[in-house]
Amino acid sequence: MISSQRHLFDIPADIAYFNCAYLGPLSNAVVAAGRQAAGRKAHPWEITSEDFFTDTEIARGLFAKLINAEQQDVAIVPAASYGVAVAASNLPLDRNQSVVLLAEQFPSNVYAWRESAARAGARVVTVERPGDGDLTRAVLDAMDERTAIVALPNCHWADGALLDLERIGAACRTLGAGLVLDVTQSAGVMPIDVRAIEPDFLVAACYKWLLGPYSTGFLYVAPHRQGGTPLEYSWRARIGSEDFAGLVNYQDRFQPGALRFDVGECANFHTMPAVVAALEQILDWDPALIAETLAARNAGIAERAAALGLESLDAAQRAGHFLGLRFPRGVADGLLDALKRQGVYLSVRGDSLRITPHLYNDDADEDRLMHALERAIA
Ligand SMILES: Cc1ncc(COP(=O)(O)O)c(C=O)c1O
Repeated sequence: MISSQRHLFDIPADIAYFNCAYLGPLSNAVVAAGRQAAGRKAHPWEITSEDFFTDTEIARGLFAKLINAEQQDVAIVPAASYGVAVAASNLPLDRNQSVVLLAEQFPSNVYAWRESAARAGARVVTVERPGDGDLTRAVLDAMDERTAIVALPNCHWADGALLDLERIGAACRTLGAGLVLDVTQSAGVMPIDVRAIEPDFLVAACYKWLLGPYSTGFLYVAPHRQGGTPLEYSWRARIGSEDFAGLVNYQDRFQPGALRFDVGECANFHTMPAVVAALEQILDWDPALIAETLAARNAGIAERAAALGLESLDAAQRAGHFLGLRFPRGVADGLLDALKRQGVYLSVRGDSLRITPHLYNDDADEDRLMHALERAIA
């Protein structure tokens, strides 16, 4: 278990921020790295051609460590939607085939599939939440020999309902279906092992649980998909691009691994040092220990909320870092504002009050949240 790390953040004592699934705060160290990075281009003469490659490769390697991949299996992308678009344009889909998604999945992992399915004349199969809450079983039941692509998160963004991706991955391999994962709501706070799950593509935006800057993210591309077609044709993705003087010796070959899928201008001097600082901090804490600590925090809140009559998914059915509290008569209008007035920040998603803490939270935050909830429902 990790003790509260609030001293590393600029979060005033009277703010209880339980909204990491919305926007993760930058730590002081990440802000310092970002500030310094923003100033670098004031002196462009100090930026060398090596600088176009150094931080991106460090960041790639750090993210690879988080998901048990190799550094060169990771591309740098600006958003989850970009990674999903790369996947959608590289996975074949025919008429009479289908794409399996969850009901109410985050839109960045939905629209690209609707578009591909419409173009191919294929079907989108939407898996509804089953009565017993076993989402994994429901996904497996929805898959058949027509399934070409399964595109999922590993926990639902509204209430953290969990999927067993290793079982789903095995079923995809049996059926020959592609597996595309959006782990934006779990990367860095749950151990993720691409060697065990074997997805074709896996994407995560950095600005939530990785506590990094906006407009940054990573796309893991399985080795057997790395010969695919990128969305754009950046100079940097070609072999030998390190030699600036030779850039017009145009090359047909790409850089190795997943680097062909990098977004243009991925050597972003203003954000990449902050991304590196954020990933280093997450790895230093260790995602397995973060998961344990946040699960304990949420278990405590769930127990206290149950005493107020608020229901949540069983701990076994949800990711530990997520807690969705349901009110017997739905979420009242004005509840979020009432909580905000008491310094408590969280989100409503669907019919749940979504509580998503991180290591900057402490016991005083938890008490502030519980008192605010008690007052709100009194
Ligand atoms: C599951 C999930 N994926 C992705 C995103 C962000 O998507 P994008 O990076 O495409 O803006 C969110 C934001 O809430 C999310 O909840």
